[in-house]
Amino acid sequence: MSEQVVDKRRRLFLTAAATAVTGVGAAYVAVPFVASMNPSDRAKAAGAPVEADISKLEPGQLIRVEWRGKPVWILKRTQEVLVQLEEMKDQLRDPQSNESEQPESCKNVARSIKPEVFLAVGICTHLGCSPTFRPDVAPQDLGPDWKGGFFCPCHGSLFDLSGRVFAGVPAPLNLVVPPHEYITDTRILIGSEGGQA
Ligand code: FES
Repeated sequence: MSEQVVDKRRRLFLTAAATAVTGVGAAYVAVPFVASMNPSDRAKAAGAPVEADISKLEPGQLIRVEWRGKPVWILKRTQEVLVQLEEMKDQLRDPQSNESEQPESCKNVARSIKPEVFLAVGICTHLGCSPTFRPDVAPQDLGPDWKGGFFCPCHGSLFDLSGRVFAGVPAPLNLVVPPHEYITDTRILIGSEGGQA
């Protein structure tokens, strides 16, 4: 193979790689990814708690961290959304989260320790796809009654902004709220509850 051909292939490969990297970066623009601080990659894979800094999280914004290889969302809700959560009951399959998985400290309508900060494992309880964050109100594809929530594109399951599943969709349960606790007002330890990992 001539040097010229090899060089051309290398250029094509580098262009493709750069395009792929750009694509990944772009995918995270809408939902910023926050690297979490953790003891080590090995400890993280084994399930060590992961610390997240939410000091820069604005109302209406959602960030992601990774815990035990799963996406965990941290959403800061507005007061308006918190009021809406109270009014959603009739549309939901398990509005009180009686059948769903969450820490004891999150057994309430907001499914959270602090009402405005909601954490959920970003995996659909139907067949494990990752739902999309859809905070937009009354978009064309989700209808005029949509007040914001999470939409699973695989089979159309819908969840409200506290991860509660709507009635009549394939997903059987609310999204899982992972164990977590506050270390300070703006730092959360995911995977630990009451000092227990
Ligand atoms: S995996 Fe989400 S609706 Fe089926």
